[in-house]
Amino acid sequence: MIFLDYQHVEQQIKKLLSNKKSTIVLQQVVDFLYETFDHYNWVGIYVVAGNMLVLGPWKGEVATEHTQIPIGTGICGSAAQSGKTEIIDDVSKDNRYLSCFVSTRSEIVVPIKKNNAVIGEIDIDSDAPAAFNNDDAVFLEKVADMLSQHI
Ligand code: SME
Repeated sequence: MIFLDYQHVEQQIKKLLSNKKSTIVLQQVVDFLYETFDHYNWVGIYVVAGNMLVLGPWKGEVATEHTQIPIGTGICGSAAQSGKTEIIDDVSKDNRYLSCFVSTRSEIVVPIKKNNAVIGEIDIDSDAPAAFNNDDAVFLEKVADMLSQHI
């Protein structure tokens, strides 16, 4: 089923996260995002560990070989370093891009912060070019805020 009402999805995610603190809820949110939006073809959460990003819960058709990414490397590492959301309309044109899946055309990475420090991030790949817009960014930044209590 596809919901295109971000507010509705936000409420559903709040419900999933209420009262629980564990990676199970992170996985549930990842699964829910993947299943809810057609243009979210791979959804993962990376967690900061020292100067690395370590892959946590993810959902997609294929596993990525990039389970550990140094901060500062790739789109993921750039977003972790800057603390700013990255939207890449065409991954083939960004020389920072670390390729995970041949089908990926665009990507969004949203930092998860606690007390202004980046503690993780949401990484979403799409098989469609320029799949992500400012609505996705605003929505996923709210989701990232909610997730920060569970990392
Ligand atoms: N493309 C990312 C690597 C992670 S995969 O998309 C799952 C990057 O450039 O950092």
